[in-house]
Amino acid sequence: MGAAMQRRHFLQVLAAAAATASGTATAKPARADRFTAAFESQPLLRPFKGVGDATGDLQGRALLRGRWPTELRGRFYRNGPALFERGGERYHHWFDGDGMVQQFTIGNGEVTHRGRLVQTTKLRAELAAGRFLMSAFGTQVDGTPPVGGPDAFNTANTNALEHAGRVLALWEGGSAWALDPKDLSTQGPVTWGKDLAQVPFSAHPKVDAAGHLWNIGTFGKAMVVWHIDPAGQLVKVQVGESPYPGGMVHDMAVTARWVVVPLPPIQLQFNKPFGPDGNGVGPRPFAMDAGQPLRVLVMDKNDITKRRVFELPPQMVFHVGNAHERSDGRIVLSFIGVPDAWFLNEGAVALMQGREQADGAASSTQLLTLDMASGRVQQHRFDNDAEFPRVDPRRVGQRTRWLLTGTGWDVHASRQHHALLHGVQLLDTETGRQRRFDHGEHAIVEEHVFVPKPGKTGELDAWLLGTTFDARRQATVLNLLDAAHIEDGPIAQAVLPYLLPPGFHGNFTAA
Ligand SMILES: [Fe+2]
Repeated sequence: MGAAMQRRHFLQVLAAAAATASGTATAKPARADRFTAAFESQPLLRPFKGVGDATGDLQGRALLRGRWPTELRGRFYRNGPALFERGGERYHHWFDGDGMVQQFTIGNGEVTHRGRLVQTTKLRAELAAGRFLMSAFGTQVDGTPPVGGPDAFNTANTNALEHAGRVLALWEGGSAWALDPKDLSTQGPVTWGKDLAQVPFSAHPKVDAAGHLWNIGTFGKAMVVWHIDPAGQLVKVQVGESPYPGGMVHDMAVTARWVVVPLPPIQLQFNKPFGPDGNGVGPRPFAMDAGQPLRVLVMDKNDITKRRVFELPPQMVFHVGNAHERSDGRIVLSFIGVPDAWFLNEGAVALMQGREQADGAASSTQLLTLDMASGRVQQHRFDNDAEFPRVDPRRVGQRTRWLLTGTGWDVHASRQHHALLHGVQLLDTETGRQRRFDHGEHAIVEEHVFVPKPGKTGELDAWLLGTTFDARRQATVLNLLDAAHIEDGPIAQAVLPYLLPPGFHGNFTAA
């Protein structure tokens, strides 16, 4: 399929999806004031109240504690849904909120913070109108206008990555939005080449040690594979067919030769009524597609028609850790598996309502060994209740021993796990040993990343950098841990004079 034809096909699929989504259902956003009291009485959940247009541009200097190493200098970015209310209405689903990029600048004996809402087409239109205009992932908005493509409702709310001199604010189903690293001002959606406007560029690209960026995008039957060079120029875009169209596809991995994409059998139920009782209040449900396996699609980076599909028992997969090729040619993939769609249907909805959540089923870190020659797959699991897996950035696509995640697992408490994470842990994937630090139940732990120590090469010659929300201080805290001594907890902290909405993902760029 040529690029122009791809784009036409893509817009047809989008138009069909938008028509299905608007249908005859009439679910509305919730009344925002219904949940005000809930957030006031739940100190741990207050950040999920979100920001407004006026508070979506924050600047501050953090109070430093402990010892920040002088050789650690750079910019740490995070992104997440941040604005949930407009015109007295409130979204049903955490994933619906408009994206806000956070930038922590570390160096010269200080940590400064800047956070700004991404000025998407959607945000600017709704700001001007004073009300929600566009239906979102989990909230139907009446009167949504016809759309010419996904960027009309792109919230740019999932990941932030500085690459080739600009910050990319990333979302699942549309363009990356470029921001200026100097002040986080929005430059606009990124079009990588002719006829490629609005072709999806997913939220979990992988950047290898040389700076090459690989990503996927999915729409309808199509599976797009992107290759961007270290200067930010498109090398190649390929479009193939997905072996499981229409499901949730969230993350991907690369090896030296392959692109690896988990395809969990989870579908948004477009034809089901909204809300738990079909009463038109609440989000549309996700469901495990009965009888369908978890597929893992492996494609040759340079020719995606060379491929194999592996099948495993069904489960949900949001995030991968890493992948590499062994000397015998087999591919090893690490990812986090979840038994069901509980978080999508209940966990992420409860957070928007300021509710204490019932526990969902615990997740597990899993290792797959994929044999491209025979099509056989081996599966190994560690029951460690993990999410937000990260590895040493110098070893993306190469063998890694250590997997960094957050965890809700409580070793001692009778409650085995929580929907909100409060610990960080390193899994030794060779021995299964876990090393962890627990911030306690007054904290929400967000994704942490590896930051290699300058001039060192070992996987644990790194700091671990990430944010927590401290409910006692009602403040967001940037934490620095030594990977070799994670059990000791933060060696340094930067306490912001305010709280930030909890985000999803981010990345560090050394200065
Ligand atoms: Fe994600």
